[in-house]
Amino acid sequence: MSNAPAPVRHYLQFTDLSADEYAHVLARAAEIKRKFKAYEKYHPLADRTLAMIFEKASTRTRVSFEAGMYQLGGSVVHLTTGDSQLGRSEPIEDSARVISRMTDIVMIRTYGQDKIERFASHSRVPVINGLTNEFHPCQILADIFTFIEHRGSIAGKVIAWVGDGNNMANTWLQAAELLGFTVHLSTPSGYEVDQAVAGLRSSASYKIFKDPEDACRGADLVTTDVWTSMGFEAENEARKKAFADWCVDEAMMQAAKPDALFMHCLPAHRGEEVSAEVIDGPQSVVWDEAENRMHVQKALMEFLLLGRVHA
Ligand code: CP
Ligand code: NVA
Repeated sequence: MSNAPAPVRHYLQFTDLSADEYAHVLARAAEIKRKFKAYEKYHPLADRTLAMIFEKASTRTRVSFEAGMYQLGGSVVHLTTGDSQLGRSEPIEDSARVISRMTDIVMIRTYGQDKIERFASHSRVPVINGLTNEFHPCQILADIFTFIEHRGSIAGKVIAWVGDGNNMANTWLQAAELLGFTVHLSTPSGYEVDQAVAGLRSSASYKIFKDPEDACRGADLVTTDVWTSMGFEAENEARKKAFADWCVDEAMMQAAKPDALFMHCLPAHRGEEVSAEVIDGPQSVVWDEAENRMHVQKALMEFLLLGRVHA
């Protein structure tokens, strides 16, 4: 038997946890949410510190990680590119070595996935992806938790993705392969998902539709995202033209199952990727989705730092 310490676990993309580990984390998220709603004190991360590094803007990710870490008894350090040496070209590897000697867990929102991977490979502590150009695993974890809360197991279900083949789409596809559901993808031409970038094993868990309404047909969940993600602002005008027909509206929701849910990771642009009637309508669960970021990330931090807790 070796006495070597267990290797550090990171959460850089959705495939970093197994289906069995997701079952555990999702169950913990439900229990941690219950404790929060009941004002039950739960401080398993007392004396632990989370470093949050933001190279892009955020509302939900910042608030959910910061409030969540305090609720678990820990504390938070908040860094941005503009107010740290990260913005003055200190190598990412050096930043990782230093930050991970003083804190217990790190959350990073940045541009290329390669950057967070380089950070993680020089970090002594777990690193969590708070959004990269390629992936947004914490958001999909929250979305799946939200789906389960409203409709039960997501296995075997159909998720319609209407819009950009971006970080959210890539992560939904990874989740579909791992957890056994199907994604109906409809993206404008030129904005398709790249199977290699998404890191998929095969094309078995998704179907491509030219017409977004066809993608929504029979879906259990319809979901979309901004036409222009952070970092792609220079393409904004071209994207507005290309995406004009990819607005989730009443007709698309009517093509889906009668009890279909609508999700959007937010921030949203009413009248662009979604109509006000849909996002503010009865099938929309976007506020639950946003709140659930906090509960699932608390469960994720507990798992990465303490393993399988049953408190
Ligand atoms: N959905 C999401 O990640 O929101 P923020 O950009 O506000 O963090
Ligand atoms: N795809 C969007 C998600 C924002 C939470 C972006 O990357 O900007």
